[in-house]
Amino acid sequence: MFDIRSKFSDDFVFGVATAAYQIEGSKFGGCGESIWDHFAKNGGTANGDDGSLACDHFHRFEEDLDLLVDAGFDAYRFSFSWSRLFPDGKNLNTKGLDFYKQLLDAINSRGLRPYGTAYHWDMPQALGALGGWTIRDNAERFGEYMGFIARNFGDDLENLVSINEPWCVAWLSHYLGEHAPGLRDLSSAVKASHYVCLGHGLGVQAARAETEKPIGVVLNFTPGRLETKTKINTEALERYEAVTNTWYLSAIIKGNYPDVALQELEGYLPNSWKSDLQNIKEPIDFIGINYYTTVLLKSGGDKFPFVEIIERDLPKTDMGWDVEPAGLRDAINLVSDYAPNLPLYITENGMASKNAIADIDRIEYYKQHLNEVAKAAETLPVNGYFAWSLLDNFEWALGYDKRFGLVHVDYETQKRTMKDSFKWWQRELAKK
Ligand code: BGC
Repeated sequence: MFDIRSKFSDDFVFGVATAAYQIEGSKFGGCGESIWDHFAKNGGTANGDDGSLACDHFHRFEEDLDLLVDAGFDAYRFSFSWSRLFPDGKNLNTKGLDFYKQLLDAINSRGLRPYGTAYHWDMPQALGALGGWTIRDNAERFGEYMGFIARNFGDDLENLVSINEPWCVAWLSHYLGEHAPGLRDLSSAVKASHYVCLGHGLGVQAARAETEKPIGVVLNFTPGRLETKTKINTEALERYEAVTNTWYLSAIIKGNYPDVALQELEGYLPNSWKSDLQNIKEPIDFIGINYYTTVLLKSGGDKFPFVEIIERDLPKTDMGWDVEPAGLRDAINLVSDYAPNLPLYITENGMASKNAIADIDRIEYYKQHLNEVAKAAETLPVNGYFAWSLLDNFEWALGYDKRFGLVHVDYETQKRTMKDSFKWWQRELAKK
């Protein structure tokens, strides 16, 4: 017996997380083309999959929210689609406004606590075509957009997140080429790494002027490990950590970028970078931590940050990611070293599994990671945990092949079927 409630304080929040483009269906309700529709059209995703239909959540949100209630969750983390609200990046789509009003009414009327994210990767393609996150204008536009979200939805939200996983928005998408817009260019990646931080800071300022609700950011962490701690490996690990795990954290909390990264990257930053840091370090009320895995590294490779990943003999998820629950506690410790006393949430954690319904591996994954969170919460202000994800959904570049849901989705019929992991949460949460 796991007995989840006995491991956490009574006010600890349990929820599930989703993101607009991964579930809603971008062909409905006057939603505009996003950088992900564009990327998919141009061959960036497995099987040419895109989010045009996804889980048809646009029409089925009531049924999907009933599932959350059935499972016994307290809270729902979802995102607003920038492209649904501003299809051309400028003009409001009132149908989009109505959709999120209805969604929030449906969440609140069920007694669920809404955690909203302003940006989970679906920038309008019209802004993408101008340069996406590599240009200052779009950071400013994001600021205005987040002010709009706070003004229109602030009253209905429990709290508001600016940007989901700036590392993915910048580095994974502009340097590693895996996510939209699919660039492999260091100069663009560094500019995006800066402007996504600036967008966050300007967004927090704009939202602050509109709402008193807590405002934060969601960062992802993939801690690096070393097998042999030679000098060159240790330096390689420092470079890796600086661009992957601390660039955004340090900028947002301390108002500076890690020196090790700056040594290589400063030349690519826009001239205004130092003065922008004042806006980037705008005070926030909480940090969300997304955690999935760790990597074992050594010095090597021909591209900055000059690291190579070493294969490990650890259990793997269907993404090929190593299962290492202790990494979650490392991520929590890292964040609280930078931001002691700032409230924290685990805003995403979960695994892709091939097991369609009998997903015992996923139950095990949750148990092991929740144990780490419980240990951390004994001494640190960890206030909640959100499982990724409610439904099987559009897993970005990997399309519909990878399934993270507690609920199975048959994409032909849109039928939802509760997996064993869903029933596990249901049993655990019921024991209040
Ligand atoms: C993202 C999710 C994604 C998950 C699994 C996170 O990086 O926020 O949108 O589905 O990881 O890859």
